[in-house]
Amino acid sequence: MSEEDTVQARMTGYWDRFARAYDAHQSARLAEAGEQELWAAVYGDVLGAAPRDVLDVGTGSGTLALVLAAAGHRVTGVDLSRGMLAVAQEEAAGHPHPPRFVLGDAVHPPLPRGSVDAVVSRYLLWTLREPEVALRQWFDLLRPGGVLVAVDGPWFREEPATPGDSAGSPSSMSAEPPTEREAAFAVAYDAETFAALPFGAAEPAAIVAVWEAAGFTEVRVDPLPQVLARDRERGVAPGHRPQLQYRISGHRPR
Ligand SMILES: C[S@@+](CC[C@H](N)C(=O)[O-])C[C@H]1O[C@@H](n2cnc3c(N)ncnc32)[C@H](O)[C@@H]1O
Repeated sequence: MSEEDTVQARMTGYWDRFARAYDAHQSARLAEAGEQELWAAVYGDVLGAAPRDVLDVGTGSGTLALVLAAAGHRVTGVDLSRGMLAVAQEEAAGHPHPPRFVLGDAVHPPLPRGSVDAVVSRYLLWTLREPEVALRQWFDLLRPGGVLVAVDGPWFREEPATPGDSAGSPSSMSAEPPTEREAAFAVAYDAETFAALPFGAAEPAAIVAVWEAAGFTEVRVDPLPQVLARDRERGVAPGHRPQLQYRISGHRPR
């Protein structure tokens, strides 16, 4: 096993083990009034009118895939965590147009070149190894004129506190004693792992540069104050605090 495979296996092991715990917060939030509409608008602004063929890389328990399928898109969700995909399948049960969930690597998604109109992700960039390779693969998967849309946040970057937050915390983690899950996270995502994750603490401008080097054009970063406002109102996952997330989008030229 290469060093990269070992790092990926540790990350995937973490997501397998805590898939249900992760999903508990995500699916509870998704069931709240207005949540689907919020995320449908965050991505729909860039995706355009349904139906489009959409690939959700690092789909996890399928929250974004389900939102976009409900909006009328034909969605494939890819993840390396079997535990996450099992939960995603359960969450999709009874859905009129469920996403297709596939085991696979976001760095080399198992889809044909030129087969999708959009590649999307939510909360994947920070944990993505080999992003230069992944970006080129995603570019090739897109049809000409297709779009790439990702949402992420400054989870592990030292940020000036957003108004209303307690100042000075260097990460999204709270100062409480670690839970079992937080302790497992610290083992899976140790310094060696983060050294293999170029976007782990990257500024959006650095991420944009990699997207542009892969051929994407009209690359832009949009902060998402509407998501921050909702997180403050509704609460975030245990051990986290509300932070200003951002959307990055770019196009494969026609
Ligand atoms: C923080 S979760 C986000 C899940 C989901 N996108 C969401 O918005 O709730 C990160 C997910 O990325 C997946 N992941 C990380 N690296 C991956 C890779 N190289 N290929 C496929 N999935 C990956 C993990 O297994 C995990 O399910």
